[in-house]
Amino acid sequence: MIYEAKKILLKNGKTVVLRSPSEDDWQAMIDYITCLASETPYILREPDECDDTEQSERAFIRRYNESRLECMIAVFDGDKVVGNCNLSIKNRNKVRHRAVLAIGLRKSHYRLGIGTTLITELSIIARSVGCTQFELEYVDGNYRAKGLYEKCGFVEVGRMPRGVRFEDGTYADEVLMVKPL
Ligand SMILES: CC(C)(COP(=O)(O)OP(=O)(O)OC[C@H]1O[C@@H](n2cnc3c(N)ncnc32)[C@H](O)[C@@H]1OP(=O)(O)O)[C@@H](O)C(=O)NCCC(=O)NCCS
Repeated sequence: MIYEAKKILLKNGKTVVLRSPSEDDWQAMIDYITCLASETPYILREPDECDDTEQSERAFIRRYNESRLECMIAVFDGDKVVGNCNLSIKNRNKVRHRAVLAIGLRKSHYRLGIGTTLITELSIIARSVGCTQFELEYVDGNYRAKGLYEKCGFVEVGRMPRGVRFEDGTYADEVLMVKPL
């Protein structure tokens, strides 16, 4: 799915552009995900797992843009990608009402309202294709994510105990949240 460009005003008075990345944004997307993986322990990828190539990143972007069931929105501050979110709708008829979201931002752009805006935009898309339920997972201890999701109306419905193992051998639960659309 393609998300058409939209300019949004942030809490600091600056603007960013939300749009589906094009294949030509492959380098900016790799730079972004590499930065994200080094800035937060709360996404699954570690920095040494950011080994995308031009070819693999172009294919990844193309997959989202051509899909009926998936959508990616990237956040552009000038030419730089500073955030992104993905929507994935389940494929079979019995579960086609369920949309799963994932979201991330560079630290430089935390707390400016971007997370809230991205969830609002994804909700509109999910509803427009008939989804009635929004789902996500976050890693226990990620208080920023918990705060954002609770503010947007998600509630905890379950946990995968020790769902994540960090490099130092400690574990954290994966928390499952749901919101009606
Ligand atoms: C989690 C994340 C997406 C939040 O996005 P954000 O743009 O900073 O969120 P917003 O500015 O829209 O804030 C929305 C609400 O979240 C809560 N929140 C955000 N940061 C918070 C913090 N540091 N402490 C407490 N609550 C916080 C607040 O309720 C806030 O509302 P308010 O600003 O009106 O008080 C961002 O911190 C991020 O990308 N983190 C790294 C990647 C990550 O953890 N992704 C989630 C994986 S599940």
